[in-house]
Amino acid sequence: MPDGVLAPARLRTRLTDLLDIEHPVVQGGMMWVGRAELAAAVSEAGALGIVTALTQPTPGDLAREIERTRRLTDKPFGVNLTILPTITPPPYDEYRRVIVDCGVTIVETAGSSPEPHMEFFAGHGVRIIHKCTSVRHAVKAERLGVAAVSIDGFECAGHPGEDDVPGLVLIPAAADVLTVPIVASGGFGDGRGLAAALVLGADGINMGTRFLCSTEAPVADAVKQRIVEAAELDTRLIFRELRNTARVARNSVSDEVVGILADGGTFPDVQQLVSGARGRRVFEDGDLEAGIWSVGLSQALVRDIAPARHIVERIVREAHATITRAAALYAGGPEA
Ligand SMILES: Cc1cc2nc3c(=O)[nH]c(=O)nc-3n(C[C@H](O)[C@H](O)[C@H](O)COP(=O)(O)O)c2cc1C
Repeated sequence: MPDGVLAPARLRTRLTDLLDIEHPVVQGGMMWVGRAELAAAVSEAGALGIVTALTQPTPGDLAREIERTRRLTDKPFGVNLTILPTITPPPYDEYRRVIVDCGVTIVETAGSSPEPHMEFFAGHGVRIIHKCTSVRHAVKAERLGVAAVSIDGFECAGHPGEDDVPGLVLIPAAADVLTVPIVASGGFGDGRGLAAALVLGADGINMGTRFLCSTEAPVADAVKQRIVEAAELDTRLIFRELRNTARVARNSVSDEVVGILADGGTFPDVQQLVSGARGRRVFEDGDLEAGIWSVGLSQALVRDIAPARHIVERIVREAHATITRAAALYAGGPEA
C-alpha cells in the first residue's frame, strides 16, 4: 500500500481527548524551527503543532507569529516556553502574557520547574504540558497541577538531563506513578515507536528530530539531508562536565567542544563555539560545520524528508499495523 493512500486508523487516548486532537502525536518546541509554518502543518495533520516562544526576539513578535499560525490553521496548537537559567533571562512574564492574550490554551514548558508560571496560566485556563527528563520532576510537575507530562528519555535531542535513563525504563517508571496523561519523548521517529510508547503506558509521543526533517521545517535542505544520511552514532553529548548536557549533531564543532571540556576547559573556552548565532547559521545557510545544532538518536530512523501530514499519517498507520501484528502472536504465532 503506497504511503498516504489509506486513511490512518484513529488512535484515541487520554492525550487526544485532553488536547482535542486527532492523533496522539506532538511536535516538541524547537529553537529556530518551531515557527508558524511547521506548527500549523503539524496541527493541520491532526497532531499538535507547537510554536517556540523564544525563537521570536520579542513578545510582540511572538504575538505576530501566533496570529500567523492561526491564519494557517484553525486546529489546536500550543506554544513552547523554555525556562532556562541564564544570566539575563528573557522577559518571561511578557511572553506569558502574550500567550494568554492571543488565546493560546496549550503551553509546553521545559528547561526548569513550571512553578513560577502555574498560577498565571491556570488562572487563564491554559493547559500545561511540562516536559522533563526524570520521574521525580514529573511527579513534582503533576503535584503543581500540570495537565500532562512529556517525559524526555536519554535518546532525545537537546537537553536529556544528567540521569541518562532511556525511554524504555523512564516511560513505564513514570507511568507507574503518574495519573496525568504521559507524552513519551526522545527517540521516536516511526510507528513502531508510537506503538511501543502506548504499550509502555504513555498516551502519545512527542517528536523533535522527525519534524525537523519535514518539508515544512524552516531549515536549510542540507540539514535535512544530513539527518536522512546520519545514523544513531552521529550525535555527541556536550557540556557533560558542566552538568548541562546537550545532545547535538556530531561535527567538527561539537568534537572540539567535547575535547576542550574533557581537557579541563571551562565554559568561556567554548562560549564562541556554541553561540546561538553560529547554530542559527547551520539552519539558515545549511553550513553543517558552522556551529552546534540539536538532533536526537532518532535520526537513525529518519529516512526521508516528508510533509508533516505524511509523517503523522504514516506513523499512525504503522503503529496500527505494529499493534495488530503483535496482537496476532496470541492467535497462534507469527504464521497465523
Ligand atoms: C533543533 C531542535 C531544537 C530544540 N529546541 C528546543 C527548545 O528550544 N525547547 C525545548 O523544550 N525543547 C527543544 N528541543 C527538544 C524537542 O522539543 C524534543 O523534546 C526532542 O527533540 C525529542 O527528541 P527527538 O528529537 O528524539 O524526537 C529541540 C529539538 C531539536 C531537534
